[in-house]
Parts: sequence; structure tokens; C-alpha cells
Amino acid sequence: MGYRGWFLSVFYMLTNLVFLSVSQPSFTACFCSKGVGNYTENSTYQANLKSLLSSLSSNINPYGFYNSSFGQGLDRVNAIVLCRGDVDQETCRVCVQNSAGKLTQVCPNEKEAVGWYDQCMLRYSNKSIFGVMSNLPPFTLQNPLNSTNPILFSQEVSNLATSLENRIFSGNPDRKFAVEKSNNSNVETIYALMQCTPDIDPGTCNFCLRLTSNMMSQCCSWRQGARVVGPSCSFRYELIPFYNESAIPSPPGPPPSPQGKKGNKTWIVIVCVIVAVVLVILSVCIFIFTRKWQKRKKAAKLEELEEIDGAETVQYDFSTIRAATNNFSANDLLGKGGFGAVYKGTLSDGQMIAAKRLSKESGQGEQEFRNEVLLVAKLQHKSLVRLLGFCLEKTERLLIYEFLSNGSLDKLLFDPLKSSELDWDRRYRIVESVAKGLLYLHEDSRLKIIHRDLKASNILLDEDMNAKISDFGMARLFHADESVANTNRIAGTYGYMAPEYALHGLFSIKSDVFSYGVLVLEIISGQKNSYFRDGQTVEDLLSFAWKNWLGGTALKIIDPAITASSGSIQNIIRCIHIGLLCVQDDITKRPTMASVVLMLQSFSVSLPKPSEPAFFAQSRSIGSDKSDTPLLSEDSRTRSTATPSQPAVASQSVNEASISDLDPR
Ligand SMILES: *[C@@H]1O[C@H](CO)[C@@H](O)[C@H](O)[C@H]1NC(C)=O
Ligand SMILES: *[C@@H]1O[C@H](CO)[C@@H](O)[C@H](O)[C@H]1NC(C)=O
Ligand SMILES: *[C@@H]1O[C@H](CO)[C@@H](O)[C@H](O)[C@H]1NC(C)=O
Ligand SMILES: *[C@@H]1O[C@H](CO)[C@@H](O)[C@H](O)[C@H]1NC(C)=O
Ligand SMILES: *[C@@H]1O[C@H](CO)[C@@H](O)[C@H](O)[C@H]1NC(C)=O
Ligand SMILES: *[C@@H]1O[C@H](CO)[C@@H](O)[C@H](O)[C@H]1NC(C)=O
Ligand SMILES: *[C@@H]1O[C@H](CO)[C@@H](O)[C@H](O)[C@H]1NC(C)=O
Repeated sequence: MGYRGWFLSVFYMLTNLVFLSVSQPSFTACFCSKGVGNYTENSTYQANLKSLLSSLSSNINPYGFYNSSFGQGLDRVNAIVLCRGDVDQETCRVCVQNSAGKLTQVCPNEKEAVGWYDQCMLRYSNKSIFGVMSNLPPFTLQNPLNSTNPILFSQEVSNLATSLENRIFSGNPDRKFAVEKSNNSNVETIYALMQCTPDIDPGTCNFCLRLTSNMMSQCCSWRQGARVVGPSCSFRYELIPFYNESAIPSPPGPPPSPQGKKGNKTWIVIVCVIVAVVLVILSVCIFIFTRKWQKRKKAAKLEELEEIDGAETVQYDFSTIRAATNNFSANDLLGKGGFGAVYKGTLSDGQMIAAKRLSKESGQGEQEFRNEVLLVAKLQHKSLVRLLGFCLEKTERLLIYEFLSNGSLDKLLFDPLKSSELDWDRRYRIVESVAKGLLYLHEDSRLKIIHRDLKASNILLDEDMNAKISDFGMARLFHADESVANTNRIAGTYGYMAPEYALHGLFSIKSDVFSYGVLVLEIISGQKNSYFRDGQTVEDLLSFAWKNWLGGTALKIIDPAITASSGSIQNIIRCIHIGLLCVQDDITKRPTMASVVLMLQSFSVSLPKPSEPAFFAQSRSIGSDKSDTPLLSEDSRTRSTATPSQPAVASQSVNEASISDLDPR
């Protein structure tokens, strides 16, 4: 560790101590929002701010929180104070008083500012900040010393984070606070703490904490101590007990056992008999259960061996499949697609399958078909429907897939009665898995497959609502050129087709990206692109989404069936943003699936502004006249949707070097 590391380490220790020394110490960190604007000396705003700040410390509630506003109209000031959950009320009061005095000195004349001490934080703004997750960047502070076993240590920090995220709501809703000590003999004892300002709802708090722990794992979770602190939530861990353990109410223990000691003999006998009977029944059950389980385990092992041993792809007899599907009975018909009909079937060993009977004019010889199937069957990913095998007999060509019990996405998504089964978490998981599946097809598999017909009815859901892409590789099986669509059999589906394909028959991975964007917008809006309906007028989903995005009314795009759940609005808005990036008219501006996956996984990736979606030009010339609507400014969008347009964690990741930037000026 060089001179700088030593210096930082001392600085870090000092920030922990500094609070004890003087009456108005420096903030651990503060943020003066230079962008918002200044108030003038002796203005009403200044007077309001002064009154508000002086009222804070005496009004703090028993959980160390207070939010209040002062003034009217443009001169209204809003403030939030929050003390760390373990801090007693008197210490909290002093801390808040100090911050109120300090923050106006550190950020002179600024309408918006946040300051953090170890034990409390103060935030004020002319914007309404209650119940809204802040879009100000969090800051990180880290001990420059590495832990002795960084990999295990990071893992333990991330375990603690998960556990804290789950426990933070267990107490009073006015107190979103949890601490935990690691108990893992392989690493040092880690003391960790998480807290949200109690004005935000649990869903938003959870979202905020997830971003914070994500940031922690990227910046510093291998250090001997670190914190990520934002205006709405924070996460900190150290190797020393930095919080007051005895001030934390211990979680409710098991209810005290009944004390009654009445020596009633018949009572004791009855209890003994009941216990004995229960024990006998239990052991019989356990015996039966373990035997069954062992058998099943053996069977599973055999299956596994077979899978590894034999050719993974099976050629089935036509008669087997015919028997499995009751001679392709209409009752077992699951659906009809461009390439043929799909039947549900049960093999003699009980395995459920979906058999796709290809329409007869595939025009491929047997050997060629077999080769292609074997290639396509090698595409294996948890977001792709698995091709189990095939069947070839005379003119019959069948593909045998794993059967997914929840059917296709469109059947749920576009059904007004069933769409509420898809809450935001589920929808988000679908958005994510489809992106990963598509990325695998485009880049990670050896074949580099373009799907060409991605749509809601080609997304299947298994029993746990995991999404899998089906019908990939069809272009290969149907002998089409991979770069140019030269056959009308591989016609994409109206509404999902990228303009370059619809107009010129040109296909690239970016056309799949387009279809993916349409799918994402459909998943969020619960509406089909091709039959989109907004009250009286019928227009296409892309134009509708685009107009609302520009107009700052992006919330109108969201399916009413999901706004009710506690899903994170910011997350949804981000997905709309990603969807719009994918459907841009300009092919070069559409992201690759790799960037889409990155955007979905990391909220610190900032998104470019989307440009006009394809087909928007046509509908605009018919409909609205807003041809020169300015692109939405961040601010107006924020106001009208009441959510920040950027992810709360902006791309500011502060490293060691910038600790001093955050130090009070
Ligand atoms: C800590 O670990 C990081 C990477 O894990 C390394 O770059 C850095 O030099 C280490 N610092 C010290 C002080 O050992
Ligand atoms: C606000 O005041 C600060 C400090 O007085 C100054 O640095 C900054 O430029 C001012 N900002 C605006 C927008 O006037
Ligand atoms: C603000 O008010 C104080 C006291 O009333 C006065 O001394 C000062 O000059 C005023 N400042 C400005 C910029 O008007
Ligand atoms: C402060 O927050 C509480 C919820 O924690 C809320 O009910 C109250 O209205 C807020 N105060 C103001 C002035 O908005
Ligand atoms: C806050 O102040 C800034 C700068 O003066 C102004 O642009 C903005 O509209 C104000 N916001 C509100 C909600 O009053
Ligand atoms: C830590 O774990 C051990 C065994 O895993 C357990 O016996 C012990 O009670 C735990 N300690 C705490 C403080 O949870
Ligand atoms: C820790 O909390 C307990 C209980 O609230 C309190 O009695 C004690 O003074 C606190 N210790 C410190 C160092 O603040």
C-alpha cells in the first residue's frame, strides 16, 4: 500500500471519528445539487428554508425520522431528516441540529442539498421529495484495505445484503432498518446495516436497496469496510461493530412456554399416548417417503446418465408419436404456427412432449433435415425450449420438444382475465430471460441463429412461469438463406417485423432486436402491437408508446393490471426505455442483445435517448401534428410521471480517488 493508500486509510478512520470531536463537524459526504439552481440572498426561499431547518430537530419521531415542508408555491421548501436506526433520540437531535447548521454553509444558496453524517442525514429541495426515490447519485466510501480472502468475503457481504433486504420490513413500517452480523467461520465477522427513509414504500425501498447492493458488489465488497449511501437508502458494512448492538430491538423470539405445572396424572397419560401415536405415524411416513425418494433418485440418476451417454437427440418412430398424441387428435392440438401444427403428447414412460408436425413442403432431403435438427438440438440454454428429438418418415417430419405446462405468453398476456397473474416481477423475469435467450442465439451459440419470428406466441412458460423461446432455428430447418429472406414460408409476423425486413426482405440480428422491443412493449402494456386500442382510436402500440414517452406520460403505457402491484415504477419505465431503443427506425441505433442484457442487469448503465420508432412516420402523418415536439427533457418527464427518469443510481461510481471530491468544500 503506497502513500496514497495510507493517506486514504487514515482519512477513512478520521471520518469515523470526526463526529465525536467538534460541534459542527464536516459531513461524511454531501451533495450540493448545482443543477437545480440558486436562491438569492434574503429571498423568501431562504427565509422558508431557515424556518424549516430550525424546526427539524425538535420534531423527530421515535424512529429518528421527520419530513416537513414550509412555504407556498415556488418558494416551498421540503426537507427530510433520518437518523441511523440504532441512534438514540438525543444523539439524533444533536446530529440533525448540526447538519441543519452545516448544510447551508457547505452548499450556500443552493435550493437542493443532501448531507450525511454517520448517524444522520439531512436533505432539502424545492422539489417534492416525499415518498419518491431520489435520482441523486449515491456515493461510495471504502476502506482501501482489502479483506484477507476477497472472494469469500464478497460472497459473505452479498449474503448479508440479501438477508438484510428480506428483513428490513419485519419491524414497524416507520422504521425501515436492519442490521446483521455475519456468522461464517471462514471470514472475519462482518457487521452490516441497511436503511431506507421510511417515506418510500416497501417496493421502492427494496428496489433502492437492490441497486445499492449491486453497486456495492461492483465497487467495493471485497474491502474491509465500505458504504453506499444515497438520499433514499444506504448500505454499510465494517469489521467493527459501528452500530450500537444493544440498541437494536431483538427480533421477537419464540413465545414463552406455558408455565402451568398442574400435576394431573390423566392429563399426562393422554399427552403421552398422543405423542406416542404421532411418533409411530411419523416414522412410518418417513420410512415410506425415504424409500420412494431413493427410488426416484435412482431413476433420475439413470436418466441423467442416459442423457450424457447417448446421443442427446433421439429419433422417434412415427408410430410412437402418433400413439403419444392420440393420432394427432384435435383435442391435443396446442396451436398452429407458420411451420405446422403442434400437438401435446405423452410418451409411454409418462414424459410430456410437444410434437410439431411440420407442413409437408419443407423441401429438404432426409439427411439434410437430420443434420440440421442435430445442429439445432445442440442449442441449449435455460431460456430456450429444448428440442428433444425428431421423427422422419416418408414425407412426415416432426420435431419433438419439451412440454411447457403454462402454454404461450400471448394466452396469458392478452387475456383480460388472466393477465393479472403476470405481476411485474414475473413480467420482468420474462423480459430478462427472453433477452438472454436471444443473446445466446445471436452470439453465444456456435450457430449464430437469427430467430426471425420472435413474438409473444413463441414465448412459452413452464410451470414456474420461466420463459423460454420456441421456434428458433426454423430458418435452418426450412433451408432459408440466413441473411436475406428469400422464401415466403419464413414470413415474420405482422406487427413484429422490422421495417427493413417488411420493406426490403433484409434480415439481421437487429431485426430480432426490433421484434424483441415490440415484445417488451407488449409485455409492459398488455396490448398487442397489431390490435392496439386506446379508448376510441385504434393505433399501433409503438406510436402510442412513443407519443406518451415524448409527452411525459409514460405511465399511460403501463398495463393497469400491473400498476396495482408494488412493482417498481422506475424499473418499468426503464424497460419501456429499453423497448423504445430496440424499435428505433435507424438500425444502427438499435442496441445489440448484448447491450440490452447489460442494460437490464446493471442500472448503472445509462441509456441513450431513443429516436423515433419505425413506422412512426406513417402514423404521424395520419394522426397528430406534433412533428416537431422537442425531445423530452429529463426534468419535465420526472415531474409528470412523478418518478425520476434516470435510474436512481446514476453512473457515478465513486472510487477511492474521488472521496475528496465529496468532502465538503
Ligand atoms: C486490493 O485488491 C484490488 C483488486 O482486488 C487490487 O487492485 C488492489 O491493489 C488491492 N489493494 C491493496 C491495498 O492490496
Ligand atoms: C450557485 O451558487 C454557487 C455558489 O455560490 C455557484 O458556484 C453556482 O455557479 C451558482 N449556480 C447558478 C446556477 O447560479
Ligand atoms: C440581506 O439582509 C441583511 C440584513 O437585513 C442585509 O444586511 C444584507 O445586506 C441583505 N443582503 C442583500 C443581498 O440584500
Ligand atoms: C411525511 O411522511 C409521512 C409518511 O411517513 C406522511 O404521511 C406525511 O404526509 C409526510 N409529511 C409531509 C409534510 O408530506
Ligand atoms: C426548483 O427550482 C428550480 C431552479 O430555480 C426551478 O427550475 C424548478 O422549477 C423548481 N422546482 C419546483 C418544483 O418548484
Ligand atoms: C453461528 O453459527 C453456529 C453454527 O452454525 C451457531 O451454533 C451459533 O449459535 C451461531 N451464532 C450466532 C450468533 O448466530
Ligand atoms: C447503546 O444503546 C443502549 C440502549 O439504548 C444505551 O443504553 C447505550 O448508552 C448505547 N451506547 C452508546 C455507546 O450509545
